[in-house]
Amino acid sequence: MSTLLVTGAARGIGHRLVERALARGDTVFAVVRKDGDAGRFSASPKLHVVRMDMAHTDSVAQGFAEVDRLLAGAPLQAIAHCAAISIPGAIELTEVAEFEQIINTNALGSLRVLKAAIPRLRGHGGRLVLVTSLWGQASGALLGAYCASKHAIESLADTARRETMGMNLHIVVAEPGVVKTDMLSDQAPAVREHLERMTAEQRGLYGFLYGRYFKLVSGAGGITADACAAGIERALRAARPAARYRIGGDSKLVCLLDALLPDRWMDWVMARSLNNKPMAGESIR
Ligand SMILES: NC(=O)c1ccc[n+]([C@@H]2O[C@H](COP(=O)([O-])OP(=O)(O)OC[C@H]3O[C@@H](n4cnc5c(N)ncnc54)[C@H](OP(=O)(O)O)[C@@H]3O)[C@@H](O)[C@H]2O)c1
Repeated sequence: MSTLLVTGAARGIGHRLVERALARGDTVFAVVRKDGDAGRFSASPKLHVVRMDMAHTDSVAQGFAEVDRLLAGAPLQAIAHCAAISIPGAIELTEVAEFEQIINTNALGSLRVLKAAIPRLRGHGGRLVLVTSLWGQASGALLGAYCASKHAIESLADTARRETMGMNLHIVVAEPGVVKTDMLSDQAPAVREHLERMTAEQRGLYGFLYGRYFKLVSGAGGITADACAAGIERALRAARPAARYRIGGDSKLVCLLDALLPDRWMDWVMARSLNNKPMAGESIR
């Protein structure tokens, strides 16, 4: 791999992928959403910072046209699509507009990247790694919009892989478990704010779920962004990539349980970490 495009490059896993690729001497197209983020990377003549907003079709198309111009006919070898958002909230308490925002950015954003990637990667063994999550396989409380978006990406990837068989390109899904990035830490204040806005009735119905989730995202679990980037690189660099890469022990375990267990048993497993009933002596805060 010597030309790599990374979306969601300003922070977290995408940022680590960019830095690791620059250190190896690859040519990197680092895709950021905000103009001001161009200065976040190590200086290198092999770095090109490109702006795209995954929520807008025109912005993604214009960004890829800029990449074509910079490549000047050279092939693009790989794309790691990391850009995504996650805003937790119970289905009953979350506005449809918030679901639209998450599904547009994550699922339709991946569709926009897929459509741009296929013609640019085919014919020379190029590869697209779509970063989903263990939540692309399983479904968890308070993550309805995020899970729906990641399940949609998994389905789009399977469909595109089957539609492009024989075209000499690879479409791969990477499913990390918990990774210590802003995506995790940014959720704690959002959940706290939700809790504080709840009516007494809503608090009675959902308070413990939000309280438990708050503790979960405030905890120290998860692998580092660098370890996750190394896992994604396996998909980017394998001579014959698999269709799916599960990254982290939690992803492997939850995906396995979700595939094997009957739904009601999986409900029980999920309720061991998050459920809506207080345990003895437990309070919401
Ligand atoms: N962290 C985890 O526990 C975890 C677990 C499993 C899977 N994942 C997946 O791994 C990927 C990377 O996540 P991360 O943890 O590195 O998250 P992160 O630190 O929050 O970074 C997300 C990146 O996506 C970009 N982004 C968000 N909305 C965008 C938009 N509309 N257009 C373009 N870029 C946009 C952000 O740009 P701004 O800086 O401009 O906001 C940011 O650079 C995501 O697909 C995520 O779902 C994460």
